[in-house]
Formats: sequence, structure tokens, C-alpha cells
Amino acid sequence: MDSDGDGVGDLRGIRSKLDYLQWLGVDAIWISPNFPSPMADFGYDISNYTDIDPLFGTLGDFDELLADAHRRDLKVLLDYVPNHTSDRHPWFIAARSSRESVKRDWYIWRDPAPDGGPPNNWRSNFRGSAWQWEEKTGQYYYHAFLKEQPDLNWRNPEVQEAMLNVLRFWLDRGVDGFRVDVMHHMVKDTDFRDNPPNPAWRPGMSPYRELVAAYTTDLPEVQEIVTKMRGVVEEYSDRMLVGEIYLPVERLMAYYGASGNGAHLPFNFQLIGLPWNARDIAAAVERYEALLPSYAWPNWVLGNHDKPRIATRVGAAQARVAAMLLLTLRGTPTVYYGDEIGMHDVLIPPDQVQDPYEKNVPGLGLGRDPVRTPMQWDGDGSGGFTTGQSWLPLADDYKTNNVAVERQQPTSLLSLYHRLIELRRAEPALSVGEIAPLPADNDLMAYVRKTAERRLLVVLNLGDNPQTFNLAYLKSRACLLVSTHLDRDHEKLADDLELRGDEGVIVELL
Ligand code: NOJ
Ligand code: MG
Repeated sequence: MDSDGDGVGDLRGIRSKLDYLQWLGVDAIWISPNFPSPMADFGYDISNYTDIDPLFGTLGDFDELLADAHRRDLKVLLDYVPNHTSDRHPWFIAARSSRESVKRDWYIWRDPAPDGGPPNNWRSNFRGSAWQWEEKTGQYYYHAFLKEQPDLNWRNPEVQEAMLNVLRFWLDRGVDGFRVDVMHHMVKDTDFRDNPPNPAWRPGMSPYRELVAAYTTDLPEVQEIVTKMRGVVEEYSDRMLVGEIYLPVERLMAYYGASGNGAHLPFNFQLIGLPWNARDIAAAVERYEALLPSYAWPNWVLGNHDKPRIATRVGAAQARVAAMLLLTLRGTPTVYYGDEIGMHDVLIPPDQVQDPYEKNVPGLGLGRDPVRTPMQWDGDGSGGFTTGQSWLPLADDYKTNNVAVERQQPTSLLSLYHRLIELRRAEPALSVGEIAPLPADNDLMAYVRKTAERRLLVVLNLGDNPQTFNLAYLKSRACLLVSTHLDRDHEKLADDLELRGDEGVIVELL
């Protein structure tokens, strides 16, 4: 939400929408980077970690937002970007100025290969070599993302101290925690070995993935840093860390820390990547649950600012089933803004592209602008997002697909989100209960969430044909609590539970 008409969302804008977030029932909000930045990667290139970019407001605005949020029992998480700074950060300006700079070793510098080219084959996530030549000092520097995002050298204790103090700065101000950007990237191989080729790569996939990032991500030393970050968070009470980590689930588990002294929630992105069918998803849920260490709390995600939106991936009808899945699985759910009203990816005309990733690797569908378009608040000219010209175009269905309209519709997707969140809060079986998967056929997926006192059965139809789920073997009276269609409340159920296509239900077992 934009408060000042410049077309860009800002802190006062968020503050003006806390009523909505409270009504929706969320516990916490995570704000993407709001720190001073040249915006080469829309805030993920930070030039000062301890201030607010004027585009988004002031430190005073931030304090007011935080206080207002806390008054409503809403927690606030900031986006902590430890892997890289902006090339305009004073640390990097000093580092690149001379080889003798006291900040030189705060970044990763390397001599050229014997042929004068880059020191090894490491690639940038955003295209090409990860090494940028600096004529002035005759060395290359490493950047896992844009050349405007040089990687910090976390092996340097001074970097560690400075960056851990950034956490303290915001924790002292009262923030409840952080989402930590590319947590698995923080340390690189000291021998600078070449990354091996990836046999699974196919044309059309990101060129970055042609290599396996074996020597640039998920090194054992990353865990030591994560533990230190957790240690800082533990200096305060009731604060938390969410890690952004794209790794196979077996590796993801390490980020909880060897004894629960890592991230509270290493983001579990499986629902973003898996094919949308009952068997694959049911198997993934079981495997994830089985791999979780005893001290670990699970979490699930349907979308974020980097990946295609759920409504576009699975369609409007299945987006309702996805909502029920997300909000009934065991673990903390994260909802990306707008997914609760069914926002879809917006086609961005080439001359309006903002995302540097799309500019670097155009046409592969990797660009992220389509999922970053203005929140559709109401049917006004700008979707109620701004009084000016929004920084990205608005979806063309904003007149019918918006918060104001959907709040009035008893069976809208927004009403479904509201209902499911309300139920989750009211039912310990859903929020903290165990999960027990049940056998199911065809497009059905089923599980029971339970506490000692209560059992709730969830049955989801991930296909568009009607399906029957046999309740008889559960030997229990059953009453329907909520359907994704929001039209079957309190229905008494006999032996056969009939589901329509694209329907999910939550059933009380009595
Ligand atoms: C992950 C963030 O989610 C993405 O938006 C960003 O471009 C990269 N990290 C680099 O910070
Ligand atoms: Mg603004």
C-alpha cells in the first residue's frame, strides 16, 4: 500500500492496512527489505543496514508501524540480507578503493586465472560469471547475484561482528525477528574449486543451475554463522529467525541447528516446486514430517516474491484447495500478499519490466515482476494501491478481484482464508496437534489433525472430478465443519464422503 502517491508501497501504507491484517487473522508480517538501497535488486542491495530508505519512509515511521502492530498483537519481521551488500555500501566503496583498504578483506577478492579470465567457473544466480573484474586494483570480486551485490566475506570476524550488530540494532528497536536472505550462501570454498556440472539441467532452466553450487552454498561453516545469529536473537526474549534456503529437504533440516540452535523456521518451499497432484504432495508431507528433528517445528509456504503465484500455477479452483492444505498442515503457514484474494501473475509488457533478473535472462519466465504487482484493495483506478502511477501495472481483473469486493462475498477465496485462519486459531488440533496421514486414492489426499480431545479429518480433492472418500473404517460419527466451497457447514456425514471436483473439506470426528 502506497501512502504518498509515488506509486511505491511504503511503511505508512502498511500501517494504514493493519486493520485488514488483524481482521484476516495473521500473527506476524514480514516486510521485504526497507533499508537504504540503490534498488538494483529492489532493496536486496543494501547500502545502509541501520536506516530506512526515504522511498519507504523514515525510522520514525518504522517505529510507529511497529508500535501500532504490537498494539494489535501483530509481530513484525524484517528482511536481513547478510550474504551481500550494495556496491554503494561504504564498506564496499572502501574495499574497492585499494588493496590496502582496511575493508578489502570484508569482500571476496581473487586474482585472475592465468589467462586473465575469471578465477573459476562460479556463476551468478542472475546470469554469467559471478566474478566482476576491477581494473583499478587488478582483481575480481565475487557476487552470487548482481555485480551491484558484492558478497561479504563472512570468514572475516570483523564482518561477523558488524553484521551481528545489525541484528541487535533492530532487535533493540523492538522487531520480533528476521527472514534471513539466502542463508545457505554465506560461506564459500577457501580453495575456490570449480562447481561441478549438473546432470539434471535442461535448456529453459536457469543458466545458473547448469552447475551444482557445491562449493558456493551450504558449506558446513554456514552452520557456525547461523548458530551465532541465533545466539544474538537469544539475547532477547521471544524473537525468531526464518531462513530463506532453497535446498533438498534432507539438507534443509541442518538449518534448524544441530540441537535446535539454528533458524526457528528454515523455509520449506516444497509446495512451490512440486507437481500439483495428491500422490506427490502426500508423499512430500510424510517425508518432511519423518525427517524433522524432534526439536524442530515445521512450516509451509505456497508462494513468495520470487516464484509464480499459486493461483497461476494451479488455477483458481485449486487455489482454494491449496489454501486449505496450507492452513491445515502441521506447521507455521506463510501467505504471500494477494494470494488470499487469488491474485494471479500479471503479464508485464517488455517496456515495463523492472526486475533485473528478467532483464538479464529474458523470456524464460524467470522474471519476478508478474508476482509483485500492486495489491488489489478495491475497484478504484489504481486498485486502491496508490493515488499516483503504480510502479508495476495492475492486474486487469482488479475491479472484481479485490479485498473490498471479496470481503462482501460470503464464499470468496478471501472469506475462505478468513474462515480457515479463524478455525486454526480456535482449534488446537489444527494449530499444534499431531498429523496422521490416511490412505487415499486417485486425486484425494487425507490426514487427521488431532489432540487428546479432538480429531479433525482433512480430505482434499486435488483433481477436478468428483471423488468419494470412505469414512466407514474410521468408525466414528462425522460432521462437516467447512468446505472450500463454504456451503456445507454442519452437514452430517454417512459412510461415504462425497467431494466435488476441486473441493476440500474439514470434518469433525466425534
Ligand atoms: C532472495 C530474494 O528473495 C530475492 O528476491 C533476491 O533477489 C535474492 N535473494 C538476492 O538477495
Ligand atoms: Mg510510496
